[in-house]
Amino acid sequence: MKKEKASAIFLFFSVAFYLGKAQNIYNVTNYGAVGNGQMDDSAAFLQAWEAACGDNGDVQIVIPSGTFLLQSLSFEGPCKASSLEIQMSGNIVAPPDPKSWKNCNVENWIQFRNVNGLIVNASGAIDGKGSGWWQPQVRGLSLVNSPRRHMHINGCNTALLSNINITAPEDSPNTDGIDVSNSTNVDIRDSNIATGDDCVAIGDNGKYINITGVICGPGHGISIGSLGQNGADASVEEVHVRGCTFHATQNGVRIKTWQGGRGYARKISFEHITLDGAHNPIIIDQFYCNGRHDCPIMSSAVKISDVTYYEVQGTSATPKAIVLNCSKTVSCDNIIMNHVSIRSPSGQPVSLCNNANGQQDNLTTPKVPCLSG
Ligand SMILES: *[C@@H]1O[C@H](CO)[C@@H](O)[C@H](O)[C@H]1NC(C)=O
Ligand SMILES: *[C@@H]1O[C@H](CO)[C@@H](O)[C@H](O)[C@H]1NC(C)=O
Ligand SMILES: *[C@@H]1O[C@H](CO)[C@@H](O)[C@H](O)[C@H]1NC(C)=O
Ligand SMILES: *[C@@H]1O[C@H](CO)[C@@H](O)[C@H](O)[C@H]1NC(C)=O
Ligand SMILES: *[C@@H]1O[C@H](CO)[C@@H](O)[C@H](O)[C@H]1NC(C)=O
Ligand SMILES: *[C@@H]1O[C@H](CO)[C@@H](O)[C@H](O)[C@H]1NC(C)=O
Ligand SMILES: *[C@@H]1O[C@H](CO)[C@@H](O)[C@H](O)[C@H]1NC(C)=O
Repeated sequence: MKKEKASAIFLFFSVAFYLGKAQNIYNVTNYGAVGNGQMDDSAAFLQAWEAACGDNGDVQIVIPSGTFLLQSLSFEGPCKASSLEIQMSGNIVAPPDPKSWKNCNVENWIQFRNVNGLIVNASGAIDGKGSGWWQPQVRGLSLVNSPRRHMHINGCNTALLSNINITAPEDSPNTDGIDVSNSTNVDIRDSNIATGDDCVAIGDNGKYINITGVICGPGHGISIGSLGQNGADASVEEVHVRGCTFHATQNGVRIKTWQGGRGYARKISFEHITLDGAHNPIIIDQFYCNGRHDCPIMSSAVKISDVTYYEVQGTSATPKAIVLNCSKTVSCDNIIMNHVSIRSPSGQPVSLCNNANGQQDNLTTPKVPCLSG
């Protein structure tokens, strides 16, 4: 009797578990998406999103094979769905002609905002290459310094992005690959990003973020920041970058903060990083000024601490291998380098540093003068 009851309960839970796991499928083609690379499929994508977001089960949005032309889109939550997976076999392209962009004032091409439990699993590509939107000559005056992110994860708790292929022209300004801000528990893995700015950038209020197996280049590397612009109060922690490769990038692994900011960037690690001709392989810049030189030195800055580099190896395109440039008033603390080894085909590699404290092991080359050991 007891046994029967137990198995009835077991059966009940198994069925409940099974039903709970069943995914409701929303195929964008059922909402009118054509996928011929010519028709604008934005409206269909938004309709599929609205329907999936309002479903209170586990939902899957399917983007089948094909080439889907999308304007800039913001997929907004909060959603009723307990998890929302996007299975993307097809490719996504941007409109080719800048005049055909419906909203020219946008900062993101594809944004996910306020969505929890997001999974984006792609085998197709996100291709901005052919689009005039990124080109320098089409920058409106007011847009010169505006970010143009391919994908922006903003206000999301728990997100998994895998197999994302992003391509944009190397000379396209401010075209980050994936930006994460205001988000917790984000896992970005096994992706290929070629762009004109940061491949991945972790902005303000990013916490518990793993970036694993990303191949970056061309591009400006993987960055924490920039943080603290216009006195902003930043909070970034627990960002772990592992097993990433950089091919001919402007930077490798970078932390950049503005003078005058407040708050912190801490508990950050870069492990098993391979550098292939990066121009600034390792850089912490507390004087970031977006390429300009007119940012005044201030007494406040975003505090940078507990940063670990482990097995960061390869070549620098210039003799400048490691730069830790921190301010006198807000130093960088507990910077740890183990098994960091950077060679340069163009001369004896050097490390430069100001106001950074921490340790290095005896396998670290070139030696960093500020660090002990
Ligand atoms: C989505 O729709 C397309 C076109 O009708 C179809 O080829 C594809 O198999 C569908 N995918 C799923 C997972 O339902
Ligand atoms: C992504 O989808 C493929 C099948 O299309 C599947 O084999 C793989 O496990 C999925 N990956 C994740 C991380 O969900
Ligand atoms: C993704 O990028 C890699 C390297 O650039 C390329 O070999 C692969 O074909 C791309 N995949 C897709 C689906 O475009
Ligand atoms: C992060 O959230 C804050 C508060 O809601 C907002 O002001 C800020 O614009 C968001 N950051 C980004 C990059 O959107
Ligand atoms: C990040 O990696 C750590 C260590 O492998 C793991 O414990 C944690 O759950 C991961 N977090 C995310 C959001 O993937
Ligand atoms: C550090 O930043 C200051 C202020 O921008 C700059 O003048 C100096 O050249 C930088 N030092 C290094 C080593 O990059
Ligand atoms: C490097 O450090 C390790 C452990 O800290 C030590 O065993 C080894 O002898 C050191 N090697 C050199 C060349 O100093």
